[in-house]
Amino acid sequence: MSFIVAIDGPAAAGKGTVSKAVADRFGFAHLDTGLLYRVVGRVALEKIGPALDEAAVIALATQVDIADLERDDLRTAAVAQAASKVAVIPEVREALVVFQREFAARSGGAVLDGRDIGTVICPNADVKLFVTASAEIRAERRFKELAARGEETDFETVLEDVKARDARDSERDVAPLAAASDAVVLDTSEMSIEAAIAAAIEAVDTARA
Ligand code: C5P
Repeated sequence: MSFIVAIDGPAAAGKGTVSKAVADRFGFAHLDTGLLYRVVGRVALEKIGPALDEAAVIALATQVDIADLERDDLRTAAVAQAASKVAVIPEVREALVVFQREFAARSGGAVLDGRDIGTVICPNADVKLFVTASAEIRAERRFKELAARGEETDFETVLEDVKARDARDSERDVAPLAAASDAVVLDTSEMSIEAAIAAAIEAVDTARA
């Protein structure tokens, strides 16, 4: 039987950590849908170049190789920006819908995290969470993450990147970043990540009871 947990929110709010913890706790499969857009962004940068010509990006998006989700070069700041640029293109989003819905419908349960899971991809999800935090707190976390990985950057640049991505993700016409009206909102600027995980697990337990 399928059981779908949709976890949305802006970059670096902690939704990846919450998603993994929920998937581990209940033995559900986990899909980080941001990786799909990162693959398209990464391959587009390589094959098309930084101008990201729309028609060429759409052609790439229809041929995504799922094996590329395992690439170890998807988590850079440049790829994050490219991902959010290609994610604005409606045909790119459409090309990725079927894979996400099939993943969600698998038996045994699935956690999908992204920007539009509870609103567009799985509007009938059993549990919907929206994990958020202030831009400053998210930028601080992302800065530490990038620094630990040896990427040369500074806090101000990361904060600008976070805000630019927030604006692009929230203001686009198709599937903008938004909490579903029936989502439980977890603001991790005001609660520890452990408390957010506990609240997420409780929401799943309640829906399964
Ligand atoms: O979650 P992550 O930061 O890896 O996502 C990278 C980019 O992919 C986001 O900034 C967003 O533009 C896009 N994205 C999206 N819809 C999703 C997941 C990610 O538009 N469901």
